[in-house]
Amino acid sequence: MAARGVGLLTRLPLCARRRSRIQRPILRRFSCPGTVAEDFRREEQPSGSVETGSEDKTPKKTFSEVQKERREQAQRTVLIHCPNKINEKKFLKYLSQHGPINNHFFYDSFGLYAVVEFGQKESIDSLQNGTHTPSMGMEAAIPFRSRFFNLKLKSPSHQTSEQPCVRSSNQLPPSSKKLFELLCYAESIDDQLNILLREFQLTEENTKLRYLTCSLVEDIAAACFPDCTVRPFGSSVNTFGKLGCDLDMFLDLDEIGKLSTHKTLGNFLMEFQVKNVPSERVATQKILSVIGECLDHLGPGCVGVQKILNARCPLVRFSHQASGFQCDLTTNNRFALKSSELLYIYGTLDFRVRALAFSIRCWARAHSLTSSIPGAWITNFALTTMVIFFLQRRSPPILPTLDFLKTLADAEDKCIIEGNNCTFTHDLNRIKPSGNTETLELLLREFFEYFGNFAFNKNSINIRQGREQNKPDSSPLHIQNPFETSLNISKNVSQSQLQKFVDLARESAWILQQEDVDRPSPSSNQPWGLAAFLLPSVVNKTSLAKKKVKKPASERIKNLLESIKSNTTENCTSTNGKRTISTQT
Ligand code: GTP
Ligand code: MG
Repeated sequence: MAARGVGLLTRLPLCARRRSRIQRPILRRFSCPGTVAEDFRREEQPSGSVETGSEDKTPKKTFSEVQKERREQAQRTVLIHCPNKINEKKFLKYLSQHGPINNHFFYDSFGLYAVVEFGQKESIDSLQNGTHTPSMGMEAAIPFRSRFFNLKLKSPSHQTSEQPCVRSSNQLPPSSKKLFELLCYAESIDDQLNILLREFQLTEENTKLRYLTCSLVEDIAAACFPDCTVRPFGSSVNTFGKLGCDLDMFLDLDEIGKLSTHKTLGNFLMEFQVKNVPSERVATQKILSVIGECLDHLGPGCVGVQKILNARCPLVRFSHQASGFQCDLTTNNRFALKSSELLYIYGTLDFRVRALAFSIRCWARAHSLTSSIPGAWITNFALTTMVIFFLQRRSPPILPTLDFLKTLADAEDKCIIEGNNCTFTHDLNRIKPSGNTETLELLLREFFEYFGNFAFNKNSINIRQGREQNKPDSSPLHIQNPFETSLNISKNVSQSQLQKFVDLARESAWILQQEDVDRPSPSSNQPWGLAAFLLPSVVNKTSLAKKKVKKPASERIKNLLESIKSNTTENCTSTNGKRTISTQT
């Protein structure tokens, strides 16, 4: 399969032979969503500042520092379903009787909600003590005192007319149309990648809402395990989360054991009486089954609870209606927490990592290479790992290997999970920034070329060592699990899905190369760069058809051109030398 399209790329001039282009300075324009609000603002430097990947002297927070801080914030926070029209000033004054408020925001999700962070935890007790359980008429209420409230107006008819509308924070990714417009207005492909990142990355508010949702679920799980912890992991915290991504949660029961202080005095040792089950897996299934029941029966706003206990990694899946998050709750899943930390480190080290990963993930989604339904598709996690591997392979490398991160570890970083060595430094400040100054545009094109020609039939992708290795088995795509090294994180991917990925990567490299030669002037009417191949359903097909494409090099491109000719849905016009897009219905 790797051989099939080699001709396409070898017919094209290699990047090294392309006409030289002015390298634009690399701008740091986006902050990391994993850090707290203050950092968020501090990191957003004026757009004129130049970043080479080596000049940011601000000490970077560790993954566990960010998690601890966010978690503590979430424990002081409440979620309130509000009337659709509300006077913000009066609302805050009303709540302030329970204590000072640190910050708050409103958002819409089939109704208006407020997220309110108090300065002290005691304020929440005070608010709960002043709140009553509603009487439900014919129905009965489960009297669970959560931190999710319902606020009502005492005399709605009198008050609603005078209420100004509050500003509501957006929790959704941009529409395809808006994105298309933004991409067409961009000045360069680098700009386009940065726009994608800015528009899709988790906002400060969305991140807060994710930690709050975990904290609310923790309150419910605490009905069974009073000292348990529910932590977010995966893309919600690893810096690669897109607005709308699921919320992966980990029920951590290990902390409970650590709380008990061993009294060594005297001749006795006291133990809890416990139920014994045949294996760790059965224990996990039983715990998740009970928590699933609690969420279903007690959890306000937790709907569609499904217990998926026979999966390789047993989980409880549910929707948290008020936040709109699709949640996956697992336990006994320490590897996933560790890989979230590793991805956090990679995503925070160099701003190009996230920009490139976001564009590849958007590209894969636009072409149905990834899906929210489990199947033979490449996962976002696997794609991110491929981006990391590619950046380790640059010269000089943009990212260090996992083995190198291990050499920077100290005693405190030592981590062995089920006999696997998962040690690496947690301290980002110990890692020297890369001297590589390649632009995002170059990296995107080279990513497609690299994987369009990768020998998937014999080689495995390995971010631990940062080099290709012989494939240990016959699975079409082999990406070594960085911690459980005998496992393949893309075992599910079929040969046909891999072939689709390879074909699309080659075509995308080709399209980007055409851009290199034929980039339209700002006053032309053509969608270009990422807009031309990222948004197939929105792209102005008339304009694409007008492009002079020499000798379509694959069947797919021919088909694409045919469909372009037969469809005219949108029209681009130009005003004052700027690209503008108008949509005809
Ligand atoms: P999106 O949810 O698609 O945005 O990305 P995600 O990274 O959160 O992926 P997902 O929800 O599928 O999985 C959550 C986390 O579980 C990932 O970030 C990984 O840490 C871990 N994970 C997922 N799939 C695998 C796998 O096949 N192998 C291993 N070792 N870990 C995985
Ligand atoms: Mg996820």
